[in-house]
Amino acid sequence: MRLAILLSGRGSNFEAIHEAIQRGALDAEIVCVLSNRPGAAGIGKAHGFGYETHVLDHKAFPHRAAHEAEVLRVLDEARPDFVVLAGYMRLLGASFVAHYHQRILNIHPSLLPAFPGVDAQAQAVAYGVKVSGCTVHFVDEHLDAGPIVIQRTVPVYDGDSADTLAARILHEEHAAYVEALQKLAAGNWRIEGRKVIF
Ligand code: GRF
Repeated sequence: MRLAILLSGRGSNFEAIHEAIQRGALDAEIVCVLSNRPGAAGIGKAHGFGYETHVLDHKAFPHRAAHEAEVLRVLDEARPDFVVLAGYMRLLGASFVAHYHQRILNIHPSLLPAFPGVDAQAQAVAYGVKVSGCTVHFVDEHLDAGPIVIQRTVPVYDGDSADTLAARILHEEHAAYVEALQKLAAGNWRIEGRKVIF
């Protein structure tokens, strides 16, 4: 299973996927790592691990479509089976999603459909939920909305801040992304409507 990673920041989910491949827990190969942010720590890590890396700064393009067209061109050359969003802070346009139909994955730090969008952990703390977690899902043309591959839960404690909850969720994210990818790599799954059936 050939994976292309798209990231914008720290890259801890990318690193977790890399480490799982290294220790033989995930039957996959990372074929390229692309960032839209020149200073992203994740792209530095990817470079250090020896991956093919690309920085395509969206600010250097006249509009979204031009940036996405270039991202697609780079991705297509790498021939990924899945495009793995790992903290990629750009919404993908409908034509991008259609180009990699049911082959784009994202991880979100809440139990979707609760708390989509930015600051999901702060939203969860503010709402007063007792349980939160993370969701690995297929990407469709709507924000944080595609069919769910896997979810993991964590407790939310009275004294939690957005940061303490985010750290607890992030720990689960790293395991969840690897588990989701391994389940997809194993084959024998299909999407029926909103449901991913294994
Ligand atoms: C994670 O919390 C992920 O759920 C969200 O963005 C964050 C990325 O973190 N989509 P990292 O860059 O993988 O460390």
